[in-house]
Amino acid sequence: AVGPNVIDVTSLTKNGFFTYDPGFMSTASCESQITFIDGGKGVLLHRGYPIDQLAEHSDYLETCYLLLKGELPNQEQKQHFVQAVKDSSEVASSVANLIQSFPKEAHPMAVMCSAVAALAAVYNDEIDITKEADRDQTAYRLIGQMPTLAAMTYKHLKGEDFVASNPALDYAANYLNMTFGKSTDDKVSPVLAKAMDRIFLLHADHEQNASTSTVRLSGSSGTNPFAAIAAGISTLWGPAHGGANEAVLNMLEEIGSVDNIDTYVAKAKDKADPFRLMGFGHRVYKNFDPRAKVMKQAADEVLSELGLENDPLLAIAKKLEKIALEDEYFIQKKLYPNVDFYSGIIMKALGIPTEMFTVIFATGRAVGWYAHWDEMVSKPYKIGRPRQLYTGYTQRDYPA
Ligand code: ACO
Repeated sequence: AVGPNVIDVTSLTKNGFFTYDPGFMSTASCESQITFIDGGKGVLLHRGYPIDQLAEHSDYLETCYLLLKGELPNQEQKQHFVQAVKDSSEVASSVANLIQSFPKEAHPMAVMCSAVAALAAVYNDEIDITKEADRDQTAYRLIGQMPTLAAMTYKHLKGEDFVASNPALDYAANYLNMTFGKSTDDKVSPVLAKAMDRIFLLHADHEQNASTSTVRLSGSSGTNPFAAIAAGISTLWGPAHGGANEAVLNMLEEIGSVDNIDTYVAKAKDKADPFRLMGFGHRVYKNFDPRAKVMKQAADEVLSELGLENDPLLAIAKKLEKIALEDEYFIQKKLYPNVDFYSGIIMKALGIPTEMFTVIFATGRAVGWYAHWDEMVSKPYKIGRPRQLYTGYTQRDYPA
């Protein structure tokens, strides 16, 4: 017989209670003090601070400190943190060689997964996860090396030489220079550096999304934190998660012209058609994502700064946004443009190749993954072990 086959769980669970909750729609997997989201109201707070206030007054590295340590740093703490991240940004030659061993047509997210997993090989003997000082050092290395790894990946896939980190530049400007510069001391536009910093900041954390939950589940076995982060990067890659920013641009290219938008909106509404409008909808936000609001404003600023308001692809994006916001189907299902919709538009305007979009998301999100891993391992914790609802064969005999 095949069918639901629920065992008597009374002896196996703490309270004799068994829930079946695909997609974790109503099940919390942990307690956390890092990030609060009210998806109905469109609220996102990091350690109590609203994301729009952080985007306006803070910067990425200060927000990293806040996520990790729970409070905004004073001047001295901030300087120490920024310096420690800079001092830890150099990538071991074994990891640089690994990146160079991949074929040029490899997807950058695949290369990033491998490169970050390789950091576990480099630092494994140096991390005692029960010691706060070791965990801090690991945070500096992760935050310091993610942009270097991302830039190295890009340069390798383009067939260009790596550009060394410039300690005189801020975090985001340095990332842009290592990625698009030709030499260490190239000039970086402050407008573009500011936009990049905002993209990192707005992606820094988002509580128990698929990739963060993966990092916690993976880390709950006591594995090396870089290995757990590599698992998070793999999860982020998918088009239903971080890969959506890349999927948005691919979709805009597929739509091709503002004249075709109605056809694609109709496809998205057709239940028989698996097509979805990429960059619309969110598991948690049933209102405008507050990050999308900031990102939309940043997109408008960047487009006008670069004089790109009339770019054909961006024109499709603008028209699509307008139509979807006024369409009954999207209004009823509370499908708003999400952060990936606007970040995709900004990165396209900055000239960043589509396949690098999710790498940039991963670079910003590394701190969020780490903060959650750190929160988990710094207190007593249990290995994550979901149950299942078995629907296969009941016991049967092997044919004699
Ligand atoms: N286009 C058209 N219809 C949609 C879309 C969309 N983008 N998103 C959801 N719907 C519809 C579904 O068909 C479903 O309709 P039904 O109730 O008639 O069956 C309803 O809205 C609810 O959709 P679910 O898939 O059940 O919602 P869920 O919360 O599981 O999914 C998700 C959220 C994955 C983000 C979804 O909206 C989606 O696929 N969006 C496109 C991909 C995307 O932009 N992802 C980025 C997420 S944000 C981030 O990672 C930072």
